[in-house]
Amino acid sequence: MGEQVDGLPDRGGEAVRWLLERLRGNRIHRSVRIGHGTRIGRWCIIEENVEIGPDCYIGNYVHIRPMVHIGAKSELRDHVFLAGEIQIGSDVKIFQFANISKGSIIHNRVYIGAGSILTNTRRISHGRQYEPKLSAPVVEYGARLAVGVRILPGVKIGEQSLIGAGTVVTKDTEPFGIYLGVPAHRISSVPIEEIY
Ligand SMILES: CC(C)(COP(=O)(O)OP(=O)(O)OC[C@H]1O[C@@H](n2cnc3c(N)ncnc32)[C@H](O)[C@@H]1OP(=O)(O)O)[C@@H](O)C(=O)NCCC(=O)NCCS
Repeated sequence: MGEQVDGLPDRGGEAVRWLLERLRGNRIHRSVRIGHGTRIGRWCIIEENVEIGPDCYIGNYVHIRPMVHIGAKSELRDHVFLAGEIQIGSDVKIFQFANISKGSIIHNRVYIGAGSILTNTRRISHGRQYEPKLSAPVVEYGARLAVGVRILPGVKIGEQSLIGAGTVVTKDTEPFGIYLGVPAHRISSVPIEEIY
């Protein structure tokens, strides 16, 4: 973070952008770097040290916590929440109300359906005398999560796998597999014509 990234303007340009965005109801930290051609809706909060690459689309009411990096041509639709320290590749689409836990890694060309949730702690400490162990999911290249998918901590979603609507994924998925159910089980393979 903090290094020059292709397609991001220098910090002088960002100061002007910061002012304009504030007039539109957005709260964008001064340290945030936004690439050329990236559009941002209204009522968004973008916290410190976030980098958004060029030609991205950020919808309305999106909240991005600190230290998130988003590659070029990615889209975050309305009400997406990114919990911080997340790496998102290029050409990624994340749909309405998705909630991505801190530390997640999302590779290029991933699709995350509306209302999907990625989690990063197996136990919920909620005032108990222990530190929760953080282990965020990884979603590999070209994987697709349908609507309302839940990914448990530390799970890796294999390259180009397809996870059906409402699935709860408790273990790593194999590349190119189609998974369904609670807990997820493999039902078939992604057809060749659907492979990028
Ligand atoms: C995963 C998915 C692609 C599977 O499609 P498919 O391979 O064509 O499978 P089928 O529709 O033939 O269903 C196969 C079986 O699994 C069941 N099934 C399908 N989707 C399921 C799901 N999400 N959860 C549980 N069971 C499911 C079907 O009822 C069927 O059961 P049956 O054999 O007892 O009749 C599809 O069901 C799905 O979830 N698509 C995503 C929809 C979505 O979120 N779109 C994005 C935004 S609009």
